Amino acid sequence: MSKILITSALPYVNGVPHLGHMVGCLLPSDVYARFHRMLGNEVLYICGTDEHGTPSEVGAAKEGMDIGEYCTKYHNRHRQAYKDFNLSFDFFGRTSSRENQEMTYHIFEQLDKNGFIEEKTIKQIFSVDDNRFLPDRYVTGTCPHCGYDKARGDQCENCTKVLEPTDLINPRSTISGSTNLEVRETKHLFLKLPQLEQKLAAWVKTKEPFWPDIAYSIAQKWLKEGLQERCITRDLKWGFPVNKAGFEDKVFYVWFDAPIGYIGITRQWEAENPADRNWKDWWLDAKDVRYVEFMGKDNVPFHSISFPATLLGTGEAWTMVDYLKGMSYLTYEGGKFSKSEKRGIFAEDAVTEFPADYWRYWLMSNAPEGSDTSFGFDLFASVINKDLNGVLGNFVSRVLKMTASKLGETVPAGGEWTSMENDLAANLQKHVDDYIKYMDELEFRKAMNELRAIWVEGNNYITAAEPWTVIKTDEARASCILRTCINLIRLFAVMSAPIMPQTSENMLQRLGLSLKNMPSLSGFDVKSQLQAVVAGTPFSVGELLFERITPEKVEELKQKYGSNS
Ligand code: MF3
Ligand code: ZN
Repeated sequence: MSKILITSALPYVNGVPHLGHMVGCLLPSDVYARFHRMLGNEVLYICGTDEHGTPSEVGAAKEGMDIGEYCTKYHNRHRQAYKDFNLSFDFFGRTSSRENQEMTYHIFEQLDKNGFIEEKTIKQIFSVDDNRFLPDRYVTGTCPHCGYDKARGDQCENCTKVLEPTDLINPRSTISGSTNLEVRETKHLFLKLPQLEQKLAAWVKTKEPFWPDIAYSIAQKWLKEGLQERCITRDLKWGFPVNKAGFEDKVFYVWFDAPIGYIGITRQWEAENPADRNWKDWWLDAKDVRYVEFMGKDNVPFHSISFPATLLGTGEAWTMVDYLKGMSYLTYEGGKFSKSEKRGIFAEDAVTEFPADYWRYWLMSNAPEGSDTSFGFDLFASVINKDLNGVLGNFVSRVLKMTASKLGETVPAGGEWTSMENDLAANLQKHVDDYIKYMDELEFRKAMNELRAIWVEGNNYITAAEPWTVIKTDEARASCILRTCINLIRLFAVMSAPIMPQTSENMLQRLGLSLKNMPSLSGFDVKSQLQAVVAGTPFSVGELLFERITPEKVEELKQKYGSNS
């Protein structure tokens, strides 16, 4: 048994998650956690909301709420959406927690003590009417290069040129619109990344054979360009006040305390049940832990450079990422998801339209692993109708209905395995082994192909064995075929469980079984597993597993959620 620590990037608390967020890190991490639990490994799966920073301040102001209450409100909305999607976190916490504050202070003190923190004075825009410093992207003005009049202080969206807020013509505060702005000097703390570069490069090098190309190449590119000192404090009210004399009126930058949140949230997990849990078993001097992180590709630099450098700078033996899964983006019908423009389907709405498993299956089958993928309702309906309804659902109802009507509602006795069943078992074993291998390698699209291939083998078997014809002349042989098919239902349920946990339970319930007492995926032997449900076991036929999505429904959904086509 191995210990696997799994984290999903912590979603920003402001706003609500859409399908792109779901497939960008949350759902794949859940599938991976479920898979490792089924292998019999000890899993700790951690996530939570990323709560600090200007967007939370601005969001709270817009709703006329206290920031703390605003964060709690949205934290709860995230929590509910993930529950609806059946994400199986061991703990879902918050970066604003007391535990994370302690953790952030400790790590900062270590960095400071070891000489990796430096004080510098910088110039920043101060908005007199807002009575605050403005982060670069909260200054709006006219781009000096292209004349676009809504350019942001960090970058012009129109011509993509990188800007300084002081480059803008007619600058104004994005928050209030005020043009009463001044450039003021302000003192900040910087993490001396250049001094950590060597240590970091040596560590990255040890990851070469293990990290997927995208993560490794991003890390290498940053190292090649040379690391810059990075400002880790901000002139804001919302955040952890800096624990250093002379800086008490500043807070830590959100990207400083957010990844530390993985550790802070594990401490929250321990605090909930201190007798049985110990966060250090996972994070400090924990040589037996394999740590896997999931995130969107835009998060890779923070997780492969800044956060590891932060941990290395403490001089302590923190658990560092062993495998970093960076995902590309899911678009909505080729465009952006946007709540304000009412475009795209958001997690909390998705589950009111179809059960979570429909979404989980579609998203994992179309996961943006190599390149971006696009969600569309036509494609969604065709995948659900073909794979789930046509292949999996149809097999289950056909087998159970036929057995019940011809032989009664217990698993039929009689007959012996023939070469047909032996071939079936041998073919399935290949797909099962590959499925497990790809899941283990976090190659989700390939794993999904194997899962589908497993279901298809079952369909091919029943088509070739023709129990409906055989039963007219040889009841014992037909019994053997149908008994094998009922065992296939059990096998399909076990293999599908990381992706579609509710459907799997539903399938097993019909056989009086439950996922809790299924065999481990490790060393899964198809031949013996296909004989595990024995003759005489009662079963029930049950309802159709999946509902067919009609063209009318597709039209309705397109109207409701916005569409290009
Ligand atoms: N909140 C960030 C995002 O949604 C991710 C933060 S990951 C963390 O892009 F580890 F830093 F928390
Ligand atoms: Zn421009």
